[in-house]
Amino acid sequence: MSEQNTSMEEPVVEESQAKEAPVEGGLTDDTYLHMDKYESMWLKIAFIIMGVFFLSVIISSFAIGIQLPGAYARIDPTKVNDPGSPFADPGLRELAPGKYEAYYRAQIWQFTPREIHVPLGAEVSFFVTSQDVQHGFKISDTNVNVMVVPGQISTLKHTFDKPGEYKIICHEYCGQLHHTMFAQIFVDDPAEEVASGGQN
Ligand code: CUA
Repeated sequence: MSEQNTSMEEPVVEESQAKEAPVEGGLTDDTYLHMDKYESMWLKIAFIIMGVFFLSVIISSFAIGIQLPGAYARIDPTKVNDPGSPFADPGLRELAPGKYEAYYRAQIWQFTPREIHVPLGAEVSFFVTSQDVQHGFKISDTNVNVMVVPGQISTLKHTFDKPGEYKIICHEYCGQLHHTMFAQIFVDDPAEEVASGGQN
C-alpha cells in the first residue's frame, strides 16, 4: 500500500512542475506580459499624442487666452430695452485706462452701436445679446466669434493690437436682410492722429 501511494503522489508533483516550466510553444505566466514591439511602439505614440493635445489645450486657454465663448448671463429678450438694462443704452464704457466694456444689442438687421472707436492696445470685453432672433457676432481678423442667442448674454474679450477698421458681421442667417447686418470698430493709433494734426 505504501509503495502504491508513493507512486501515485509522484506524478502529481511532476504536473505542478510542468505548469511553471516554460514549454516550447506553450504559455507561461511571463507570456501574458509580452507585448509586440510595434504594438508597444504605437501605444507609446498614442499616449504622446494625447499628452500633446492635453498640453495644447492648457497652453491655448491659459497662456494664449483662447477660450470658448460662454453664456455669461441670461436676460429676458422682451426686457432688453427696459430702463436699468445695460442694453437699453448700449455702447462703449471705459473701466480703466485701456480697459473697456462694449455692450451690443443685436436685432434684425443691425447692431447697436453701429460704430465705436478705441485706442490702440485697448482691451475690450464684449457683451452681446439679441432682442429678437438668433444672430452671429464675428469681428474680422480676430478670434471674436460668438452666437447671439435671444435670452442669453454672450461675452468675449479681445485686445486690439493693430490699428485700423474691424468689421463686425452677423454670420448667422437671420432673415431677408441678414447680409446687411454689420458694425464697425475703429482702432485709433494716437501716433497717427498726432501726425495728421488730430484730424481723423
Ligand atoms: Cu443677424 Cu444675420
